[in-house]
Amino acid sequence: MYKLYCRIYQNVLRGASYFAPWRRPELVEGKKSLNKLPKLIKNKGINSVLIVTDKGITSLGLMDGLLKGLKEVNIEFTVYDKTVPNPTIDNIEEAVEIFRVKNCEGIIAFGGGSSMDCAKGVGARIARPDKSIASMKGIIKIRKNIPQLFAVPTTSGTGSEATIAAVITDNRTHEKYAINDMALIPHYAVLDPMITVGLPPHITSTTGMDALTHAVEAYIGKSNTEETKELSKNAVKLIFANIYEAYSKGENLEARENMQKASYYAGLSFTRAYVGYVHAIAHSLGGVYGIPHGLANAVILPYVLEYYGDSVYKPLAELSDLVGIADLKDTREEKTKKFIQSIKDLNKKMEIPTQISGIRESDIPLMVERAFKEANPLYPVPRILSKKDLLNIFNMIKDHVEQ
Ligand SMILES: NC(=O)c1ccc[n+]([C@@H]2O[C@H](COP(=O)([O-])OP(=O)(O)OC[C@H]3O[C@@H](n4cnc5c(N)ncnc54)[C@H](O)[C@@H]3O)[C@@H](O)[C@H]2O)c1
Ligand SMILES: [Fe+2]
Repeated sequence: MYKLYCRIYQNVLRGASYFAPWRRPELVEGKKSLNKLPKLIKNKGINSVLIVTDKGITSLGLMDGLLKGLKEVNIEFTVYDKTVPNPTIDNIEEAVEIFRVKNCEGIIAFGGGSSMDCAKGVGARIARPDKSIASMKGIIKIRKNIPQLFAVPTTSGTGSEATIAAVITDNRTHEKYAINDMALIPHYAVLDPMITVGLPPHITSTTGMDALTHAVEAYIGKSNTEETKELSKNAVKLIFANIYEAYSKGENLEARENMQKASYYAGLSFTRAYVGYVHAIAHSLGGVYGIPHGLANAVILPYVLEYYGDSVYKPLAELSDLVGIADLKDTREEKTKKFIQSIKDLNKKMEIPTQISGIRESDIPLMVERAFKEANPLYPVPRILSKKDLLNIFNMIKDHVEQ
């Protein structure tokens, strides 16, 4: 009965989504395209911006050229760089205060998913000063335009530059959840591969596996469209062909550019076709332990795909064919197994562990509850899992148990 309810809920949303005002960010792309951003902002009549980023980025000086360019065209800016991985409500409130005090007119989100989501949270609060972040959890609670948002992704992973989501952590309850609204789709996305060249190998691999998880979860879900299937396929192909190169030879600009595109395509795909249990579990681990999002997804992805069983044989056999790892005479089941194995192999080659350490037995029931609530009834997963199933998965992914 519950499963039927979930499927009806998903079908209603699927139907409604055909009428939703989907839009894509305007792209500014290619090597050194970041140099074009100051003039673009100026031409929009914006004279003062808030830049949301993190300490890692400012300490590397990654924004220096951008700041110089903003000065040259007389755009005032204030940098908020206290964003933490798994950004918090406190981050957002601090940055909102600066936006107001400095009379900012636009927002530059400069960084990985954490900075981009923090910037989106700021936009949401500016659009709806009457609503708290907590009250915007879920779908379509903003319904008003946010200030012009210029997203500059510096990891190739989250695809947040293309999505309706901002994933926020409540630093009091340690709950991590998404606010989803068309209003949060950035107005511009700058895809400049030069910014990702210095991304360390471990962050390259884990954020890249996040992008793969988006593409795969969207592809196997039941709300994909012809367009999202195509986007997912493009992303999967690009990631299989480039992730190891980007990880092992970070200076390879072509590999970096391809990973950036893949992440963007995967973002476009999942924002329409949703993610699934991999993300729901990863978010619960991110909220409770602060485990980096990409790392959690990379570890969990093969377990959940195996757990889905024959419900994913068809789509995963297709992806297996797509990346050329299957034999013509293989059955769908064999192709699926090869696809899952190739994800495990990639993880291994990039020194991503097979399990997550530090999970406390006593925290598992709460995380099961949260993952179940996040995924059901919203995510159109190939097979609806019970709390018992999620518990089984937690028991598979946990490394040593700390009481
Ligand atoms: N909104 C969405 O649609 C969406 C989708 C997936 C994930 N997310 C969220 O995004 C967050 C994760 O984002 P992330 O994986 O991009 O990581 P992140 O933004 O947390 O960054 C990870 C680390 O990488 C560093 N870094 C970033 N770019 C760098 C560069 N070019 N060179 C050197 N160091 C760099 C940062 O300083 C930081 O220390 C999570 O909170 C996750 O839930 C959001
Ligand atoms: Fe993700």
